[in-house]
Amino acid sequence: MARITSFEQYQEQYKKSVDNPEAFWAEQAEQFTWSKKWDKILNWNFTEPKIEWFAGGKLNITENCLDRHLPEKADQVAYYWEPNEPTEKAVQLTYKQLHEEVCKFANVLKKNGTKKGDRVCIYMPMVPELAIALLACARIGAVHSVVFGGFSASALSGRIQDCDCKIVVTSDGAYRGAKAIPIKAVADEALEICPGVEKVIVLNRTGSEINMVAGRDVLWEDEIKMVNADCPAEQMDAEDMLFILYTSGSTGKPKGVVHTCGGYMVYTHYTFENVFQYPSSGGVYWCTADIGWVTGHSYIVYAPLLAGATSVMFEGVPTYPDAGRFWQVIDKYKVNIFYTAPTAIRALEASGLGFVTPYKLDSLKVLGSVGEPINEEAWTWYHENIGKGKCPIVDTWWQTETGGILISPLAGITKTKPSFATLPLPGVQPILVDEKGNEITGNGVEGNLCIKFPWPSIIRTTYGDHERCRQNYFATYPNLYFTGDGCKRDEDGYYRITGRVDDVMNVSGHRIGTAEVESAINMHIDIVESAVVGYPHDIKGQGIYAYVICTNSKKDAETLRKEILAEVTKMIGPIAKPDKIQIVTGLPKTRSGKIMRRILRKVAEGELNNLGDTSTLLDPMVVEEIKAGAIK
Ligand code: WTA
Repeated sequence: MARITSFEQYQEQYKKSVDNPEAFWAEQAEQFTWSKKWDKILNWNFTEPKIEWFAGGKLNITENCLDRHLPEKADQVAYYWEPNEPTEKAVQLTYKQLHEEVCKFANVLKKNGTKKGDRVCIYMPMVPELAIALLACARIGAVHSVVFGGFSASALSGRIQDCDCKIVVTSDGAYRGAKAIPIKAVADEALEICPGVEKVIVLNRTGSEINMVAGRDVLWEDEIKMVNADCPAEQMDAEDMLFILYTSGSTGKPKGVVHTCGGYMVYTHYTFENVFQYPSSGGVYWCTADIGWVTGHSYIVYAPLLAGATSVMFEGVPTYPDAGRFWQVIDKYKVNIFYTAPTAIRALEASGLGFVTPYKLDSLKVLGSVGEPINEEAWTWYHENIGKGKCPIVDTWWQTETGGILISPLAGITKTKPSFATLPLPGVQPILVDEKGNEITGNGVEGNLCIKFPWPSIIRTTYGDHERCRQNYFATYPNLYFTGDGCKRDEDGYYRITGRVDDVMNVSGHRIGTAEVESAINMHIDIVESAVVGYPHDIKGQGIYAYVICTNSKKDAETLRKEILAEVTKMIGPIAKPDKIQIVTGLPKTRSGKIMRRILRKVAEGELNNLGDTSTLLDPMVVEEIKAGAIK
């Protein structure tokens, strides 16, 4: 089926996808290489839940990402890799070269004992070898679990243990902006409590002295010399696991979201081509996310390769060496489609137009936004100053659990409206419900966002704990997938995501659970209890506000604050450090002992005179103290 090219076609396809979803997605799936056709297009129920797309079909996603393109695109660039340091040599990989590197590294994984179904943890900076490592796992049917390079040893070991990884792929260090960051040292610390890990493959990125553990550690560059580039793709069932990606929820530790091979392939490819209007909007695409997050998995690695696109992959940060870096890179590679996060847009806006005007930016055709709600001001700045008023902005709403974009304009086709993700993509059936789960019909309404029918890349399970998956996403409202987001539907039927309605924060586009931060803070010896909430932050979207009760320590507030930040950095990583810490003697609790977060959120937002009903509190005086000590 061809790409949608007009709004009428969108409406037709949408209708078709709802009237007959199976026929709709089967038609999409036909274009790929399958070594055996599926037995059944869709099996599903949202009660267990059990969802299977294209079951019985056999394929390998890397054949579709790589081999399939070789006859026509062998010499086309798959990735332009732009290093952190502008003066360092950039690297480019054609489809042929990428295919070769993936096959070689797949053989390295095999040589080191990796088998189909084994879990491989990948903890690396944004270098081409990161994409190669993911694809090499997929080539041999191993399941990758990528951990963002900014996570701490403690966070890393938790993820390695949870899915029982046998192999870890990492690097000596990483460059991010002006900093060189240790990676191997963090991995070594994590591995002290991960006896299940048999082999560690280390890439030398920064040329540092590497501490190699005998019998366990091998060097990427040595291993790669010992293998050839012949690696037949393992044929996978469409419902075999492709990867696990950990993400924060409202309670407990991060959970391992599981995606499978067939449906994920079909859906990410479909959304990439339609949302960004690839290739008619141009062939060079740049998504600035890190592959450690789902955006990078779906829209740096899999979807662009499935579509045969040319991508830019960037190692650094938007503000190094200065706040013009993104714009300089766009001009350098003549980027046509640019996909970034609102937090980056706001930070660059704050740096001033002086960093934008030196660049032409005339190659740009489509701009994208992802990860958090984009406020109207940032949207307008992006539209006017980067897109020069002529590039449509696709505000793409989706989640780790959805695998691909669910609600978004189609570039140049759907009329946009600042801060609206606009309309559901074909195959996506959103509904708004009230607290009790009753559907809220009509337009000009607001409610909790659910989806009532499976799309091909919906979460299948949470690794090792299917009940948790059911509880988290399918138990709140019977027969609906619950997103955890609040949402408005305006008079035109356009969707606007208002943010999380659960205890998940979104800080600079990073998903962080309040419970995780609290448990990290509580590790501090002087802390008795803590409560963490998000509050509006000009650049980050949300900041983290922590209320802490401490023992009678003689420590001054500043020392305590620094120690808490160190504790959170140690347990999770610097991205989860609270912006504000208020020391309190009590927390507002109900008689049954539940913390009333609503009140804490209001105080953090600075709405001190609008706290709502506090009569059910055990000790209303606590609120007065909290108000008096609130940090502005
Ligand atoms: C939020 C990132 C508003 C939302 C792809 C969601 C957004 C969470 C948007 C998922 C958007 C993502 N507008 N909010 N365009 N995109 N979100 O799993 O709250 O890291 O539930 O996936 O980010 O974050 P995750």
